[in-house]
Amino acid sequence: MNKISIIGAGMTGATTAHWLAERELADLVLVDIVEGVPQGKALDMLEAMPIVNKDVELVGSNDYAATKGSDIVIITAGMPRKPGMSRDDLLKVNAEIVGKAATETLKYSPDAIFVVLTNPLDTMAYLAMKMTKLPRNRVIGQAGILDSARMRAFVALETGVSVENINCYVLGGHGDEMVPLTRHSNIAGIPLKEYIPADKLEAIVNRTRKGGGEIVNLLKTSAYYAPAAACAQMAEAILKNKNLIVPCAAYMDGEYGLKDMFFGVPVMLGRNGMEKVIEYSLDETERAMFEKSAAAVRETHDALKSLVTF
Ligand code: APR
Repeated sequence: MNKISIIGAGMTGATTAHWLAERELADLVLVDIVEGVPQGKALDMLEAMPIVNKDVELVGSNDYAATKGSDIVIITAGMPRKPGMSRDDLLKVNAEIVGKAATETLKYSPDAIFVVLTNPLDTMAYLAMKMTKLPRNRVIGQAGILDSARMRAFVALETGVSVENINCYVLGGHGDEMVPLTRHSNIAGIPLKEYIPADKLEAIVNRTRKGGGEIVNLLKTSAYYAPAAACAQMAEAILKNKNLIVPCAAYMDGEYGLKDMFFGVPVMLGRNGMEKVIEYSLDETERAMFEKSAAAVRETHDALKSLVTF
């Protein structure tokens, strides 16, 4: 059986375990600093397995040693965003938590592929890669699947069409400057622009950009069902070597004209993690949106570099 360790047994971590257990993909380990919480949540889910007929072992621990031999490590540990707080406000506190989570788990799972979820996402993924010194295929950030799923959900609400027919591609940094690519998005192959009136489409794009904040305002904390579902999809694509093309945060090495930064782009996920970056051709407007988003991500990367030496 494959093994997936999830660092952070809070709302996102535990919900990721829930989605993953349902898929019967791997045995699962939850690690958290709070005593009792990872143990209690893992045991509760373990006791649900006979009801849903899944043979999955779930273990909770406060000790990284429990993660030994993981195929995938998913990092969700950190502080969630509170109302009025930008993702970047989280930078300092989460840098310390994610740095430790990545380096500690690597000791026990030298071959693991890392999926990072903690915000500010692009920068936490960058930090995890720099701290572990892993090659770029083994550190991937979760953001684009979530942002694209939000857009797909809003398109489905607007049109009444099945989400299965709706393909949306939201790229760029996981912040307010993210880039919903309406030209590449479609409903059963029909470009969104032909299916949805311009004003409605613009409203969908705006709601997608602010999708995280909309949930924070309602819940008073970060979203977790959809982010966790996105992590589960990534883990499945990796373990099953699916070569699934989905938007994720990946380390840029010249693609899209970007270097030495994480950025949301379509990537192919397979058993080696990020198998390759897929490059779309962008028109002038899209390129301008990319540059603007990249500048915002670079700013947070620079803020990180002033806090941490790699
Ligand atoms: N080691 C392990 N776990 C830690 C550490 C640490 N050093 N520090 C904090 N944690 C744990 C907390 O105890 C908590 O259980 O991380 C968990 C975070 O869970 P929540 O507070 O419920 O936050 P959540 O909503 O899951 O969000 C976590 O994911 O989507 C992002 O923006 C979100 O950065 C946030 C992260």
